Amino acid sequence: MFSLERRQIKLDQENLGSGQFGSVAKGECTLRNGSVIPVAVKTLKNEDIGAKEEMLKEARFMMNLNHKHIIRMIGICDADCVMLVLELAPKGPLNSFLKNNKDMKQSNIVEIMWQVASGMAYLQQKKYVHRDLAARNVLLVDEHTAKISDFGMSKAMSREQNYYEAQNAGKWPLKWYAPECVYYWKFDSKSDVWSYGVTLWEATSYGDKPYRKMKGQEILRFLVEENQRLSKPPRCPDEVYEIMLECWKYDKNERPTFIQLETKMSYIFNCLLERGE
Ligand code: ADE
Repeated sequence: MFSLERRQIKLDQENLGSGQFGSVAKGECTLRNGSVIPVAVKTLKNEDIGAKEEMLKEARFMMNLNHKHIIRMIGICDADCVMLVLELAPKGPLNSFLKNNKDMKQSNIVEIMWQVASGMAYLQQKKYVHRDLAARNVLLVDEHTAKISDFGMSKAMSREQNYYEAQNAGKWPLKWYAPECVYYWKFDSKSDVWSYGVTLWEATSYGDKPYRKMKGQEILRFLVEENQRLSKPPRCPDEVYEIMLECWKYDKNERPTFIQLETKMSYIFNCLLERGE
């Protein structure tokens, strides 16, 4: 279904970024029906067998996803090097886009984050956890269309338990992780909701870095012992900051679900539009 031959893929010079295991290049893919579409091609750096297995895992995961706010997998090519061919989001990651477009209205940012909540509600309903939701992994097709990407750390939750329990601590994005992930290595949709709050903070602060120079231990002290939270970004509307604070409740049962977030964000979007913000 998703397997591609090497000759169907043409790589451009343009590099879209580099990740943990390799790089992402812009390219074109010729589909079976003859149409040519722009794509993003994730390629592995070397013949690392472990990395290849990771990428195949990501591909197998993405095969099950079908949502308008999630990057679509076009296919996978297992030739001289493994290539994961993805739908292209030409405007790139949300954090770098906002750093360069500080005139974007807060209503537009809320619209984008509403779309992210709807994509995450879909994942939640499928009982998947993303585990790496951050502004760098929200890609823009255009100013009004966001797609969630990077499923390299994503997992299905077990049927018996409603969470995924990590067996090893890897290279974790700790600044985006809820306390229960760091303490107990347990991940569920409510820990993705915490990450959504951090992503919302990044977006409303136009791509600022959360917790500045703080290290893992300092962040835990700040969040758990001192019960402090990231402060309200200067241009962030009060009702949007309220949402972040709800996402960052220590008790995960007090955090909203993605379905609730989708509703709240659509409501706030309409309020901001009316107020011209
Ligand atoms: N960077 C990583 N994946 C990408 C994609 N699908 N489109 C654009 N840039 C990307």
